[in-house]
Amino acid sequence: MSISVRDVHWSAGGLMIVDGISIDVAPGKTLGLLGPNGSGKSSLLRLICRLRNVKSGVIALGNTDIAAMARLDIARRVAFVEQQATTEAQVTVLDVVRLGRTPHRGPLSPWSAADDAAVNAALRQVGMPERTGQLWHTLSGGERQRVHIARALAQTPSELLLDEPTNHLDIQHQLEILSLVARLPATSIIALHDLNLAAMFCDTLAVLHQGKVVAAGTPEDVLTEELIANVFGVRAYIERSAHHGRQHVHYRLD
Ligand SMILES: Nc1ncnc2c1ncn2[C@@H]1O[C@H](COP(=O)(O)OP(=O)(O)O)[C@@H](O)[C@H]1O
Ligand SMILES: [Mg+2]
Repeated sequence: MSISVRDVHWSAGGLMIVDGISIDVAPGKTLGLLGPNGSGKSSLLRLICRLRNVKSGVIALGNTDIAAMARLDIARRVAFVEQQATTEAQVTVLDVVRLGRTPHRGPLSPWSAADDAAVNAALRQVGMPERTGQLWHTLSGGERQRVHIARALAQTPSELLLDEPTNHLDIQHQLEILSLVARLPATSIIALHDLNLAAMFCDTLAVLHQGKVVAAGTPEDVLTEELIANVFGVRAYIERSAHHGRQHVHYRLD
């Protein structure tokens, strides 16, 4: 397994927020992390890149427990796009994307052709190669999101964690970003709210509820009317899409 989470607990403010979670993502695969607001998705992603330390349990990248890894070694392989990523106002698009190269460079090593290649490829992948000189504070919400994703891609991660990356994006860019992530060789975990986009682009899904995994497996196994009612409190019916062959969730108002 490229990412393995084994019986992980994490608490804050006297509450158990990640309550015995186990998930596995095979190399190169994309896991969709679903669950209502407050179910623990962001907390779990922060634990996987060790922005927080587990209270108990083990998180491994490949065969290595991240608790035993140097911070720099984690940063060289794991890229994280946070839910509410912010940055200083007076920086350009290029400055932000170049930050993705930081873990790969020594304090004295000059900027290299490989760094340039990674930055340019990342800007192309999010469709912003012409915007390098634009100041951060002049970008729209969706453009900021794409620049943060480019920063993560410039890091050339083997594991990519994205927390609600499609927030603020128009539908064209939602589809582009998710199909890009699905195609990347990196192993990815994407926290998402849109069940249909999750079914379209993720190899497997894990649904969190109150800090626990309540369903995991293929989109077909996970997205059932019963689960959607129990976890999200919404009535739905499921159809197999004639177009892409995956589950399609229709919500009922009646
Ligand atoms: N540092 C913290 N201190 C106290 N409560 C926290 C902390 N971090 C997260 N929480 C709480 O943990 C729960 C899960 O949060 P989060 O992981 O952000 O959920 P999600 O991303 O699924 O919406 C929420 O109720 C949130 O308020
Ligand atoms: Mg969150």
